[in-house]
Amino acid sequence: MNFLRKRFNKGLRKEVLEFSSSLKFDKRLYKYDIDGSIAHAKMLGKCGIISKRESCRIVKGLEEIHQEIENGKLKLRNAEDIHMAIEARLIQKIGSPGKKLHTARSRNDQVVLDFRMFLRDAVGEIIKLLRNLQEVILGVARKNLSVIMPGYTHLQHAQPVLFSHHIMSYFFMLNRDAQRLRDCLKRINVMPLGACALAGTSLPIDRKYVARLLGFSSVSENSIDTVSDRDFAIETLGHLVLIMVHLSRLSEELILWSSSEFNFIEIDESFCTGSSIMPQKKNPDIPELIRGKAGRVFGDLATLTMTMKGLPLSYNRDMQEDKEPVFDAVDTVKECLKIYISLLKNIKVNKDKMYLAANDGFSVATDLTDYLVKKGVPFRQAYSIVAQIVMHCIKNGKRIDELSLNEFRSFCVKFKADVYKNLNVKFSIESKKSVGGTATIRG
Ligand code: ARG
Repeated sequence: MNFLRKRFNKGLRKEVLEFSSSLKFDKRLYKYDIDGSIAHAKMLGKCGIISKRESCRIVKGLEEIHQEIENGKLKLRNAEDIHMAIEARLIQKIGSPGKKLHTARSRNDQVVLDFRMFLRDAVGEIIKLLRNLQEVILGVARKNLSVIMPGYTHLQHAQPVLFSHHIMSYFFMLNRDAQRLRDCLKRINVMPLGACALAGTSLPIDRKYVARLLGFSSVSENSIDTVSDRDFAIETLGHLVLIMVHLSRLSEELILWSSSEFNFIEIDESFCTGSSIMPQKKNPDIPELIRGKAGRVFGDLATLTMTMKGLPLSYNRDMQEDKEPVFDAVDTVKECLKIYISLLKNIKVNKDKMYLAANDGFSVATDLTDYLVKKGVPFRQAYSIVAQIVMHCIKNGKRIDELSLNEFRSFCVKFKADVYKNLNVKFSIESKKSVGGTATIRG
């Protein structure tokens, strides 16, 4: 049955239906479409726009359709989209009352309703996964609380830090991700139904009632904006992109750290693959895939922003292209968070390797500068004294802590015997007094 063809003499070409139908991807919205329609039908009954009896029959019919879809009895096909497929099935099932469901509604507000309900759930699930991953990171940090590693800038040894401090950086990134999504939920959770095609309706509907039934905290305020707006989806994609930026940076570090050059961590074998030709290989495929999948999610954001940027108000069919990038990004982010939760739980930290690396090179040079500053040497002067000491060490193939006190004093007379304890990486870490620094307990 195609009740949208009454104004045409010709039927829709098969290939046009195939090309334009969104059913293949929007069928996953069926639950939201049915819940939204049930609330709409209840409202129509309550406001006397349809009879109570008609309203009840529609609700019952929709509940049955929900069951039919869940247990695979209803094959969704041959419709422009999920909204038409469900409405057609309802009319086929219950006859005339079904023809009243679409009163005071358009697919333009209906599709936004479904999309917002989908995103509300998806964002809630992603926030939960972020929290789970944060807990896992906290667990890894606690278990390795005093493990020392080299801190890097420019991927060069910078200053010694605690591994727990380093890994907790990701805890805070994910914390901001969760906060951003929670804030974005406020703008997702706005009820669009009642905007109809774009102008509202002359029928006496009760939008707030529908909002209450569906758990929305407010109703949208401008009917044209309501059917034209996809900001909430773009905003969500932006936040998902940042999650992927964070997971991708962590992946990059895990890949580096698990290389034989670093050997700081071991990724559990059950997360690694071998090579089809090199028998010795143990590849960090999961972090690599996550780093790769980050690109997809950036692409999803680009797709939707490009789709929207040139559109006149209000609804245009281009907007049907909004769903696939959002579905893809949501699925990808959920998948990546889930696999990261188990991967990180099973990570092995090679604390001896990290400690050795932290002791290598000149990572305590800044501590030496601080030592001189505490003895009253102006910072810039202290900096250049230590730079000369480093140069001297490089020239003579020595570590800083191998210099004699006389050698130190040849650069500055403020050096005393207590200098040596400042050259210890553990001392360096625990000496940090600033809030947010790497010391275990801050003074
Ligand atoms: N399937 C469309 C979408 O996903 C909704 C239908 C609105 N179509 C229309 N011709 N007004 O955006």
